[in-house]
Amino acid sequence: MASIIGGIGSTHVPSIGKAIADKKQNDPYWKPFFMGFDYVHDWLTREKPDVAVIFYNDHGLNFFLDKLPTFAVGAAAEYRSEDEGWGIPVARAVPGDPALSWHLINALVADEFDVTMCQEMLIDHAVTIPMTLMWPNEKWPVRIVPVAINTVQHPLPSLARCLKLGRSIGRALGSYPADLRIMVVGTGGLSHQLDGKRAGFINKEFDQLCLDKIVNEPEALASYSIRDWVDASGAQGVEFLNWMAMRGALTGRVSQLHRNYHIPISNTAAATVVLENAGQEARKAA
Ligand code: DHB
Ligand code: FE
Repeated sequence: MASIIGGIGSTHVPSIGKAIADKKQNDPYWKPFFMGFDYVHDWLTREKPDVAVIFYNDHGLNFFLDKLPTFAVGAAAEYRSEDEGWGIPVARAVPGDPALSWHLINALVADEFDVTMCQEMLIDHAVTIPMTLMWPNEKWPVRIVPVAINTVQHPLPSLARCLKLGRSIGRALGSYPADLRIMVVGTGGLSHQLDGKRAGFINKEFDQLCLDKIVNEPEALASYSIRDWVDASGAQGVEFLNWMAMRGALTGRVSQLHRNYHIPISNTAAATVVLENAGQEARKAA
């Protein structure tokens, strides 16, 4: 049986890719951010996941304003990065796991999540930056299943809906017969706004609340409306929808193993968390 080992929340700010390419990890601006990944590297080395289910938002690469699915699940054998700019070197392609993707798609549709299924899917910085941060120096050792959540064109799915989407995926992962170690990732956020009158907006207090509640009280965050979330977290702070889905997929007893928060990275409050998922057996034994 598959087991869900834990979840990682990570920002996906594109300029991180440029900082890595320019080897700026130890510059004073970047160090407090990159240091937050030392723990992540140790955890990944210890836990050795086979697959990562990655909740992210597409930034106009696969889906534009003319056609924008609320939820889209990748079912490709490989995902190529075609980010169109940001000065980051084009990242490598990432292998998929079509059998697991179809298992998830079947379970989601049976569970009344009518997702868009993508046998071809491109990935952008919202996938490649967290991958590069998690495994900076090696061949990426996981296959991925990308799950795109619309955080771009309103109406967006609610926080509660994304938590439920994650829970549905968590149940489906738990019933997958292959003996895989699966991690879940939520990318983006935390507070930021890239344009308009409040460009550069960051809300440290609200971010801390999110980081506290995501561990064991995600329902407290699920009751916010999208409008209130934009007020509190900025227009692009809604990328936290990806974190809600990641948290929902953790079906065991959850503990926070690691947290780092640093402002700003580019225009964004950059947070990194590692959540451990004590599975069903561990829960029974506890
Ligand atoms: C930035 C943040 C994002 O989430 C993004 O997708 C692009 C840029 C930024 O802060 O620069
Ligand atoms: Fe983004």
